[in-house]
Amino acid sequence: MSKAQFIRLMFNDISPKYDLLNDVLSLGTHRLWKKKLIRLSLQDKPVSALDCATGTGDIAFELKKNCPGSVMGIDFSQGMIDQAIERSKRNPHQVEFRVADIEKLPFTDKSFDITTISFGIRNVENLDQGLKELGRVARGVYILEFGRPQNNLFKKLYFGLLKLYVPLFGLVSKRKDAYEYLISSSEAFPSGEEFVSIMKKNMSFKIFGYTPVFGGIAYIYYARNEELL
Ligand SMILES: C[S@@+](CC[C@H](N)C(=O)[O-])C[C@H]1O[C@@H](n2cnc3c(N)ncnc32)[C@H](O)[C@@H]1O
Repeated sequence: MSKAQFIRLMFNDISPKYDLLNDVLSLGTHRLWKKKLIRLSLQDKPVSALDCATGTGDIAFELKKNCPGSVMGIDFSQGMIDQAIERSKRNPHQVEFRVADIEKLPFTDKSFDITTISFGIRNVENLDQGLKELGRVARGVYILEFGRPQNNLFKKLYFGLLKLYVPLFGLVSKRKDAYEYLISSSEAFPSGEEFVSIMKKNMSFKIFGYTPVFGGIAYIYYARNEELL
């Protein structure tokens, strides 16, 4: 089974419990980190936005509150998109959700002002191709992803705790492998400057940058053409 198939099936399986597990597992902190991503991306004053690997639509709904044009959310897991569509029935902010693969986005070049992706890029099988696509369809790209804390002691403590704490959720969700994958993929994924250099290789923008969140447990990366900070 390819990595993409494994990921898609895993998210289909956990989709009904995803929001609850996300809140409990992160002790609610994912909401703060997502707010930070949204704040940064809104500095671009986007009219339209595409949220990739949207999951149940957290970022897309928030963006729609501030973007007067069209906001779309795509994900390759039908289960996650079904949850997002269910939420949209109770949400006054109209977002269009579609099943689509980041590696082959069904949009023409620069169709959106910005693309965002939160906790999704780590899962994309062909990272170079995924980044190329995010940059192709928009004028600015904003990425939130787990990474490695910069301080060595904090890094050891953090991954040590994660290995004790996270498997408990695997038991609850009956997808132990999903939570083992969360730890191993976060530990191995490039972060900070290393990730920025991969972005530079695959996207043509003038400005690239990043900001660590919570000591480097996560990072927000951006690529755009104007200095806004
Ligand atoms: C950890 S969830 C993040 C969901 C949401 N963005 C959030 O922050 O809560 C990762 C999502 O990435 C999606 N995903 C992974 N690879 C993808 C791809 N190649 N194309 C589209 N979606 C993908 C999965 O289906 C899953 O919904």
